[in-house]
Amino acid sequence: MEEMKTNQGLPLIGDKAPSFHAVTTQGEINFPEDYAGKWVILFSHPADFTPVCTTEFMTFASMADEFKALNTELVGLSIDSLYAHIAWLRKIQELEWNGMKNVEVKFPLIEDIKMDVSRKYGMVQSQSSTQAVRAVFIIDTEGIVRTILFYPASTGRNFDEIKRVVLALQKADRDHIATPANWMPGDDVIVPTAGSCGTAKERMESTDEDQYCLDWFLCFKREKKS
Ligand code: BEZ
Repeated sequence: MEEMKTNQGLPLIGDKAPSFHAVTTQGEINFPEDYAGKWVILFSHPADFTPVCTTEFMTFASMADEFKALNTELVGLSIDSLYAHIAWLRKIQELEWNGMKNVEVKFPLIEDIKMDVSRKYGMVQSQSSTQAVRAVFIIDTEGIVRTILFYPASTGRNFDEIKRVVLALQKADRDHIATPANWMPGDDVIVPTAGSCGTAKERMESTDEDQYCLDWFLCFKREKKS
C-alpha cells in the first residue's frame, strides 16, 4: 500500500513562515529570508499541465505587476520537477484565454518533487497524497504568516480576492483599523473596539464627523472617497 506522506505541520496565522531552500524556475531561493522587507504570496498548485492550474497561473502572472506595486512578490509551488515546470511555463506563454495571451511567468515556481516544502506548509492534505491542494499563504515583511487560504483541486482561486486581502492587511497595519465584510479600498473602516466603559461612552457621545457608531462596539471611520 502506498505510504501516505503526512504534513509536518501547518504554520498558523501569526507564526514565523517556515524556512526552506528551494530550486525554482528563477534560480535558488532561501525562504523567507530572500524576501525580507516585502510581502509574499506563497501559493501551491496540484500539478503542472492541469487545466484549472493553467488558468490560475495565467491570471496570477498577468497580475504580477499589480502585486509588485503593493510591494508583494509571488512564489508558486507544485509537486513536479523543474523540467516539467519549464515546459509548462513555456506552453502557457503560447496560450490565449480570457483576454490573456503571451503570458510570461516571471515569478519563481518551486520544484517540490520530494514534497519537502509542501509538507512543511501543510499543502498535502487528505484529498491526494501526491498533489498539493490550492494553498495561499500571505506573509508579511517580517516573515510572519498573516493569511491562509485553502481551496480544493476543482475550484480555481479568485485572485482579485487575494489582492483585496493584501490591501486590507496593509491598510490595517498602516492605519490601525480593521476592515468590514466585503471591504474594498475607499470604503469606510472599523475602529478598534472600545476597551473601557469610558471609551464606549465617549464613542457614543462623540461629535467627530469622521466617525460614526452603530453601537458602542461597532464604530466606523469615514474614508475620503476620491
Ligand atoms: C486542475 O488544475 O485542473 C486539476 C488539478 C488536479 C486535480 C483536478 C484538477
